[in-house]
Amino acid sequence: MPYRIYLSPPHMDPLSRELLLDAYDSNWVAPVGPHLTAFEKEFSQAVQKSQAIAMSSGTAALHLALEAVGVRAGDDVIVPSLTFVATANAVRYLGAHPVFVDSDPTYWMMNVDLVEQLLEDRHRANNQVAAVVAVDLYGQCSDYDRLSPLCQRYGVPLVEDAAEALGATYRGRHAGSFGEVGVFSFNGNKMITTSGGGMAVTNNPSIATRIRHLATQAREPVEHYEHRELGYNYRMSNLLAAVGRGQLRCLTDRVERRRGIFNRYESSLGDIPGVRFMEAHDPLHAARWLTTLHFDSKMPDSPRDQVIETLKNKGIESRPVWKPMHLQPLYSKAHYVGGTVAQELFETGLCLPSGSSMTEHEQNEVVQLVQKVLGAA
Ligand SMILES: Cc1ncc(COP(=O)(O)O)c(C=O)c1O
Repeated sequence: MPYRIYLSPPHMDPLSRELLLDAYDSNWVAPVGPHLTAFEKEFSQAVQKSQAIAMSSGTAALHLALEAVGVRAGDDVIVPSLTFVATANAVRYLGAHPVFVDSDPTYWMMNVDLVEQLLEDRHRANNQVAAVVAVDLYGQCSDYDRLSPLCQRYGVPLVEDAAEALGATYRGRHAGSFGEVGVFSFNGNKMITTSGGGMAVTNNPSIATRIRHLATQAREPVEHYEHRELGYNYRMSNLLAAVGRGQLRCLTDRVERRRGIFNRYESSLGDIPGVRFMEAHDPLHAARWLTTLHFDSKMPDSPRDQVIETLKNKGIESRPVWKPMHLQPLYSKAHYVGGTVAQELFETGLCLPSGSSMTEHEQNEVVQLVQKVLGAA
């Protein structure tokens, strides 16, 4: 059913439209052209990395990021269980195997104690994993104060899935800048959009060259079409890069709006007994892609589904939090480390509509409906 208020719809702007038409009129409509070059340069500056490669999706960027850090068929890769399926699928595209890790109950992201134990056990068994993928969930950064030195200590590359966290910072550094490679998504529901698209960023020129090469069908740099290895058609088109340039200029505004939305939800709903908002390691600098909360699992009947249903009946979209990967039929046989934290977050967690174009009036409507269901109106 079409909603009146969506969870996180595209928020387009006049400059993106102007640049899109400019790209169209210039006839640079394929995956090469001045807007593509400029978007990569402007994006790399925005997240303070030396290299950026624009791609057709965040999933494509993850796939090649993992390849470029050395993940190969048969390898194991540590991945949080609580994430969107793309994070795990990218591992499988390479014939490698995700090892899923449970969440931290406060911050919801991958439990670093479990990661440490896993890396230590694998080190002792001389069977180290090929990479760790950290996911900056719902617009908040992972705990890089702990995770980065841990990966360094065991010599395991860290790939950062910052698809949901563009615009966040952690201890003064940009989301996406912590991994050997950082990955972003410009899907229609993200902080900014190119309709569909993604970006890989890194400070390592040889990794950047590798990703660029694989993303252009691994074509050798000669006049005729020469291919030594399997490549992919993963580059972003110049048309969409033009949109991305306009959207990128709006990023600060979009982050501010989402933070404002989070603050209003938290101040109106945060004191209701049993309601717990996802916490951030660096709360003032989280991008707050989606405002998420969960209901105390000790509550006799979790009201989560009733909230979703009530909002839906009024034409308002809300969603459960991601269903953990180890509970997905697709990954039922995968290795999983941890307990029931991610599962409980899935069973009781809620994503509230948080689009940056949402009006205050719309947000008040959501707040009042949620308060009513929770008996707090
Ligand atoms: C955590 C996470 N990783 C990866 C992706 C994949 O990005 P894309 O849809 O651009 O392929 C998404 C969202 O779509 C995501 O939320």
